[in-house]
Amino acid sequence: MREILILHGPNLNSLGKREPEVYGSLTLDAINAQLVDAGEKLGIEVRTLQSNSEGALIDALHEAGEWASGVVFNPGAYTHTSVALRDAVAAIDIPVVEVHLSNVYAREAFRQKSLLGAVCVGKIVGFGWRSYLLGLQALAELENDG
Ligand code: DQA
Repeated sequence: MREILILHGPNLNSLGKREPEVYGSLTLDAINAQLVDAGEKLGIEVRTLQSNSEGALIDALHEAGEWASGVVFNPGAYTHTSVALRDAVAAIDIPVVEVHLSNVYAREAFRQKSLLGAVCVGKIVGFGWRSYLLGLQALAELENDG
């Protein structure tokens, strides 16, 4: 069975109570459950991980390079700042989809810059928790293409 990592960056452990008008009312656990479910229907084993630490996210990407066929990654605020995460994505040989719950392009100027976008296979923003779902479906479709 194919395996995909859903990787959540900083502050996403607070989903549900964190600015629900921006990020929605589902908790991280509820989102992960939806994604595991969706994965089952696609024949994909979905593993999930959240960390507030840049180093742990880098380690998770390196490890995913060994076992996963792709990563759906919401780097949170590190999207806009982290050369180290960009380098980690560039260093692994599997497709990474950048996702954001909010439409970062309709928000503050500093959120409109992504250091990771250029090394990801694509990006999905603005669909709430379904940004992850669309990212998962996109990876499944890419793999079907071979
Ligand atoms: C976010 C957007 C980022 O700018 C922000 O720092 C987040 C969440 C999103 O999913 O919309 O933490 O990645």
